[in-house]
Amino acid sequence: MSSSIKELLIAAKQRLHQKNIEGAYLAPDLILAHLLKVTKEHLYAYPEKTVPPNLAKHFWELIERREKGEPLAYILGKKEFYDLELEVAPGVLIPRPETELIIDIIQEYFSPSQKFIFADLCTGSGCLGITIAKKFPLAKGICLDISAKALQVASKNKSKHNLKKQLLLVQGSLTHFFFQKQLDLIVSNPPYLSYEEVEKSSLEVKGYEPHLALLGGKKGLKFYPFLRRLIQQALKPRGIFIAECSPLQKEDLKTIFSSFPNLKIIKDLAGRNRFVFVQNHC
Ligand SMILES: C[S@@+](CC[C@H](N)C(=O)[O-])C[C@H]1O[C@@H](n2cnc3c(N)ncnc32)[C@H](O)[C@@H]1O
Repeated sequence: MSSSIKELLIAAKQRLHQKNIEGAYLAPDLILAHLLKVTKEHLYAYPEKTVPPNLAKHFWELIERREKGEPLAYILGKKEFYDLELEVAPGVLIPRPETELIIDIIQEYFSPSQKFIFADLCTGSGCLGITIAKKFPLAKGICLDISAKALQVASKNKSKHNLKKQLLLVQGSLTHFFFQKQLDLIVSNPPYLSYEEVEKSSLEVKGYEPHLALLGGKKGLKFYPFLRRLIQQALKPRGIFIAECSPLQKEDLKTIFSSFPNLKIIKDLAGRNRFVFVQNHC
């Protein structure tokens, strides 16, 4: 039997709501709009329209995935970051809204007409490197990740946003990485959760997102000494370093980065200590 847009949406919302799924009222709209290749506003404008049975069947398969806890971004294969749509896939961390603040901070220090060289270490989907390259068309960047899957997705995002000339993607480990060039900017969102934090995270996170992207060793601090080494080795005088961190790590990070007198810990929009910031000595 065929169903209308309205019938499918009402039934799916009830089903997700009964299972206490986050976003129960919006996810069905986004999933159906994605399948029909229309906007969600189109669904609201034409609620009586019939959905072809093959698409309705696919819709229920995707609703079932969401019902089991799979993140919506993996189901849709995309996620908004800053003002860009990025491709995401299982095996790659879904970009988080708090990470977007790194872009705002960078915009305070660099202008769109400036030429500069940057590195995005632990690039994942490429969200930071790609957004920086889009905002600063004269900048050139190197995006590093250890995961082949992450680089595959970052490469698709690089092509999607026409950044062939600006970005170089490199597979390798931050722990063994050295730069030939001097950099104006280093950004990083390294894996920074402790074993305990990963264990306590929601099923959506620990059951679906790659632990390689989440876990930063026993206390979550494993990667910061390597980032410190790269600041010392590759950041130009007055160059900027920004890395995301866990709000629980403020005191440890002050110790790790104590050789930088102008170290700042910057809060996110929710008021949690979220970023380590260094402007290199003059
Ligand atoms: C927290 S995710 C950040 C991804 C992306 N930058 C973002 O903000 O959404 C951390 C990334 O670090 C990568 N990674 C883990 N260990 C690494 C290592 N030793 N060297 C380089 N990248 C690593 C993971 O594959 C993952 O993509």
